[in-house]
Amino acid sequence: MELDFWHNRWQKGETGFHQTGLNPYLAYFYGEKGPEPDKRSSLKVFVPLCGKSMDMQWLSKSGYAVIGVECSPIAIKDFVKEYGVSIDEAKNDRHVKYTINGEISDGACIELVQGDFFDLTEADLEGVTDVFDRASLIALPEAIRKRYAEKMSGLLATGVRSLLVTLTYSQHEMDGPPFSVTEDEVNTLYGDNFKIEKILAKDILSNEQKFQELGLTSLIETVYKLTRL
Ligand SMILES: C[S@@+](CC[C@H](N)C(=O)[O-])C[C@H]1O[C@@H](n2cnc3c(N)ncnc32)[C@H](O)[C@@H]1O
Repeated sequence: MELDFWHNRWQKGETGFHQTGLNPYLAYFYGEKGPEPDKRSSLKVFVPLCGKSMDMQWLSKSGYAVIGVECSPIAIKDFVKEYGVSIDEAKNDRHVKYTINGEISDGACIELVQGDFFDLTEADLEGVTDVFDRASLIALPEAIRKRYAEKMSGLLATGVRSLLVTLTYSQHEMDGPPFSVTEDEVNTLYGDNFKIEKILAKDILSNEQKFQELGLTSLIETVYKLTRL
């Protein structure tokens, strides 16, 4: 799936993937069940393919440093506008990096990197301890998921934890995105470089009218904890 596809989606306002509320798994595993608030300042959460996710705002206000990467300048502009803050801007040959300072946002620092995830380097992600992958891996078709997982393995240091949320359904019932990603595929993509723990799986179709209307007969949401080996 080319970046033009996503640029067009943002230009046309076709952003049905955007959640207005906080992701419940993030709230649970990084809030209630997460590290104590005084331990969070040493943690930095990477949000790949971040869109204008308000999860980043919550992470920052909860004391975590955040770095997101997103190809669409519209998404970044919207995030900044909705967050109501001003930002610093710096360019290199690959990306434009926006920084929302802690003092301004009343939370920990948020860095938004506008550009292609596949152009990131390990140096760009220095200090990252955690990853939140919601609607990112599953936004990509199969061949690009393989590249994405390989790139992610190369970017992350040993010990980095990742909270990965996937959807699984019969791919012949609907075209993606979001694409169906099975447990077998997660094991194939990440098994060599990550310890994989499946945390939960549940059928969410009864709460998803849009996907019922599109003809799905089952929609399993699965949450994994991956740890870079
Ligand atoms: C399905 S959306 C999910 C956004 C976000 N994770 C959320 O939960 O709202 C996928 C996002 O990835 C962005 N994207 C797709 N491919 C990308 C790439 N190679 N580099 C950076 N961003 C990308 C798209 O513009 C889009 O905003």
